[in-house]
Amino acid sequence: MTLPRLTFVGTGYLGATYAVCFAELGYEVLGFDVDTAKIAALSDGVVPFHEPGLGVLLRRNLAAGRLRFTTSYAETADFGDIHFVCVGTPQRADDTGADLSYVESAVTGLARRLTRKALIVGKSTVPVGTAEWVQRLVDKHAPAGLGAEVAWSPEFLQEGFAVQDVLRPTRIVAGVRSDWAATMLSAAHRGVLDLAAREQREVPVVVTDFATAELVKVAANAFLATKISFINAMAEVCEAAGADVDQLARAIGHDPRIGSRFLRAGAGFGGGCLPKDLRAFQARAQELGVGESLRFLHEVDLINQRSRSRVLRRAAELLDCPTGPAGPDFGNTRVAVLGATFKPHSDDVRDSPALAIAAALSASGADVHVYDPEGMGNAARVHPNLIFEPGLEEAVRGSELVCVLTEWPEFSAADPVHLGRLAAGRLVVDGRNCLDVAAWTAAGWRYRGMGRHAEP
Ligand code: UGA
Repeated sequence: MTLPRLTFVGTGYLGATYAVCFAELGYEVLGFDVDTAKIAALSDGVVPFHEPGLGVLLRRNLAAGRLRFTTSYAETADFGDIHFVCVGTPQRADDTGADLSYVESAVTGLARRLTRKALIVGKSTVPVGTAEWVQRLVDKHAPAGLGAEVAWSPEFLQEGFAVQDVLRPTRIVAGVRSDWAATMLSAAHRGVLDLAAREQREVPVVVTDFATAELVKVAANAFLATKISFINAMAEVCEAAGADVDQLARAIGHDPRIGSRFLRAGAGFGGGCLPKDLRAFQARAQELGVGESLRFLHEVDLINQRSRSRVLRRAAELLDCPTGPAGPDFGNTRVAVLGATFKPHSDDVRDSPALAIAAALSASGADVHVYDPEGMGNAARVHPNLIFEPGLEEAVRGSELVCVLTEWPEFSAADPVHLGRLAAGRLVVDGRNCLDVAAWTAAGWRYRGMGRHAEP
């Protein structure tokens, strides 16, 4: 059987990564976006965001002629046997759930121009019930009699590991309504399954209905967020009880029923997915009349917000700042903020705890100097009033306090003796518990982590 031709509608982070990786797997691929600048960059072999390993694969597959990009819906509709919808579903401005306007315009734009039966596969993270609505949109807008069908196949890729996550997924979820859709979707995943077979790995495939497929994605993200907030709540308890959350996490993580991943305490979760998905999921549960079932996610969100304010409190304690009803007053103290992205190996600053804390320090009077290995451009666009330094040393030089807020390897590997000579005061808040406490305290730094012992 010849491989189906694939299109990826929306070449943001998700769609661009999928388009490139599926071309790498041998499919003929067309990426579509309404953003001409994005399409021009990708066509020139330039990835418009930071993702390790993606640029090389993009250029290789452009050169091999398996991958192209377009801004034309007509060309996309004509090219593809299977169309993956990968557009964003941001939080609505009034905070009432997910904004599906991009999904609507992508699906109608495509459906109107279909010339033959095709499968439209939703990949975007959406409220449960969206796939049904997409099928109705397709029925309404596609030329009569084509019988175009919808399927839902959520993705689980993590920024910074996206290439691996697409080529070697932990599972494939296929929400389908007909044997034809199941067969088509399995043809689209053959490359991934063949690669797994060659590497003697198993990729479980869960074939299910629309609603379950949609829910799998938000349930997975809600679980991960809960796990992070759980350990951050334990960090609060550890601080009060004089215990150490890192040792606690290690000990409970040895139980395979719990597992050690996503148990890193710190400044909490951020990014373009976990925080917004958590809120959209609660909004959808309310609509479905089961708001109570997800009420705990509100608490997960609150713990997460508190993790950010706890970093500020640690900073104020170390500096011995006066604290009024409006919070601490940092009185123009120079503070080095190391990290701006929501996590390392990414240039993404959406809902970044690091950047939110930097802005809060600045709003409380501190003279904040930020450095991040990859996120400076994006951070400066969001917070043009912060001072951005070209390097780690420039940020630390003359600072009374250093706050490490994203666990970039460059920060964990930095020499505390050398940094101590540059800084004006040897005070450090480790908002990600990523520094070697023994090395930093031996170099004369007063250290505060998150629920972690301050002495080795
Ligand atoms: C997350 C999910 O992990 C992916 O599976 C999912 O596909 C993706 O959202 C999505 O919905 O598209 P991502 O946003 O790339 O992926 O980031 P994560 O690696 O999950 O990290 C999220 C946040 O949690 C980061 O701010 C990170 O610093 C924080 N985190 C993570 C912790 O604070 N502690 C941990 O132990 C792990």
